Amino acid sequence: MNKRSVRSIDCQGKKVLVRVDFNVPIQDGRVTDETRIIESLPTLRYLLDQKASVLLCAHLGRPKGTANLKYSLEPIAQCLQKHLNQTVFFAKDCVGAEAKEAAAKLQGSQVLLLENLRFHPEEEKNDSSFAQELASLAQIFVQDAFGAVHRGHASTVGVSKHIPSASGFLLEKEIQALSKILRQPETPFLTILGGAKVSDKIDVIQNLLPKSDHILIGGGMSYTF
Ligand code: 3PG
Repeated sequence: MNKRSVRSIDCQGKKVLVRVDFNVPIQDGRVTDETRIIESLPTLRYLLDQKASVLLCAHLGRPKGTANLKYSLEPIAQCLQKHLNQTVFFAKDCVGAEAKEAAAKLQGSQVLLLENLRFHPEEEKNDSSFAQELASLAQIFVQDAFGAVHRGHASTVGVSKHIPSASGFLLEKEIQALSKILRQPETPFLTILGGAKVSDKIDVIQNLLPKSDHILIGGGMSYTF
């Protein structure tokens, strides 16, 4: 994979900002599907072993640039805490005084989850000052949000312009799996696609059509078909 890996960057004792995909379903303040949180653990555990101070940034839903507690990441901090078996601190904003103070206080091998990036319209606009402010919280940026890297946002593209950046283990794993099936697919090649958001998947389907023997479409988007 021609992406720099977190293994090749010295994270020992450093402040590391990790972009994760914690866009998970939440009901009555509880995460109802923890898969994405569990998938982020190998990168987080690796960084904690390196005594890095781990700052997590993520989005939840589409709050359209305004702070809306319905889309708060706070319930995710509780869920992550259970998996890591250690306290996960939570900052009520991802930038500004509160985020800066929480980041500055964070010790080696501690974890801080920042509030939803999309509470700020600058995130989706990939605003460079916003990206710089996020980057200023840490010394290294690790991208591990596989489900969000197709977005050109401040936390997916912008931050990497300001501090040394690398990919996390989940991103690596997904790119390796995809590269293998797209370059040398074994046949018969069956593609199974699901999800609610069809518009983003049209390009994927077009790309996979000539390669696949069969494509099965399920989930919410099957209604469109
Ligand atoms: C997802 O759940 O598909 C990703 O987290 C991306 O979310 P988005 O489609 O709201 O950008």
